[in-house]
Amino acid sequence: MPTMRAAFASRLDKSDPLAALTVGERPEPTHPEDDWVTVQVRASSLNHHDLWSLRGVGLTEAQLPMILGCDAVAVDPEGNEVVVYPVVVTPGDPRGVSILSEHFAGTLAERVAVPRSNLVPLPDGLAATDAACLPTAWLTAWRMLTTKGRVEDADSVLVQGAGGGVATAAVALAVAMGKRVYATSRDAAKRERIAALGATAVEPGARLPERVDVVIETVGAATFDHSLKSAAPMARIVVSGATAGHEPTVNLRRVFAMQLEILGTSMGTPGELYELLAFCADNAVRPVVDSVVPFSQVEKAFARLHSGDTFGKIVVDHTA
Ligand SMILES: NC(=O)c1ccc[n+]([C@@H]2O[C@H](COP(=O)([O-])OP(=O)(O)OC[C@H]3O[C@@H](n4cnc5c(N)ncnc54)[C@H](OP(=O)(O)O)[C@@H]3O)[C@@H](O)[C@H]2O)c1
Repeated sequence: MPTMRAAFASRLDKSDPLAALTVGERPEPTHPEDDWVTVQVRASSLNHHDLWSLRGVGLTEAQLPMILGCDAVAVDPEGNEVVVYPVVVTPGDPRGVSILSEHFAGTLAERVAVPRSNLVPLPDGLAATDAACLPTAWLTAWRMLTTKGRVEDADSVLVQGAGGGVATAAVALAVAMGKRVYATSRDAAKRERIAALGATAVEPGARLPERVDVVIETVGAATFDHSLKSAAPMARIVVSGATAGHEPTVNLRRVFAMQLEILGTSMGTPGELYELLAFCADNAVRPVVDSVVPFSQVEKAFARLHSGDTFGKIVVDHTA
């Protein structure tokens, strides 16, 4: 059976996700339906989702081994450069859809199979290593700000845990949209880098100079009370992750008295990915890239993501 190199979950480990990661040979992709194609991956990027998978969140023993990775820029069978939209219709899943690496093999491999309709043309002027950051973390941030957060009606935005992939995306996009952006980070060096992106960087929990109209939450329990306290009347608190705990204490008095909206969201639509790609290409917005590593060093890249020491996205170059 022909094989290809891949990074995959060979087992699940709640406390030591890096121990569950294997880099080695896996069978070439197969097509569950006729309208699927195999594309050659040029660049991918890591997400916290990959660590959750190794921990067994959203992945069961029965699904192993599972190739990880949600994001990819690739070359399609006709030789076109494409961005892979990672959400696939999945009838057996309660959500009706799944993200690559949940039910279907992910992008951290030489090749990946997806429905042809999941391929979006790579716009001119966007490098593969930049565009590989966009389909998951940046798409999530785009939808959080636009469709869910209704940022066009907002003057100010707070982004929690701003060193993360979704969070740096939200900061860069909200700044590019002309909003006043506040961002928290536990790390002084990251706060300096957030300030360089055009946001006002503060320590977690710090009182802001004003209440904000939109809060971007991916941290969860560690920051949620601050998100509630920082929200202006009628503000939208948009939640797409809970890296530091998913069961925060919520002061409901503040929710109803201030008429706050707490909105959950996950990923985005293909239309939103088109909009995001066009926005980045037209406004010269580029992803915040922590580092670009060759595929041969993908284990080191996972260790870096796990350390929490990152600022922006870790990109994997599959051509190196
Ligand atoms: N629903 C979706 O569609 C979707 C899509 C992408 C991601 N997500 C979720 O969103 C979350 C973030 O993902 P990501 O890929 O952006 O992760 P990431 O790059 O690993 O970022 C996580 C960030 O959270 C902050 N953080 C971690 N622990 C913290 C703590 N104890 N207290 C305060 N801040 C803490 C850190 O910011 P500082 O170091 O700056 O403080 C860190 O940089 C994950 O839970 C992920 O599953 C959801």
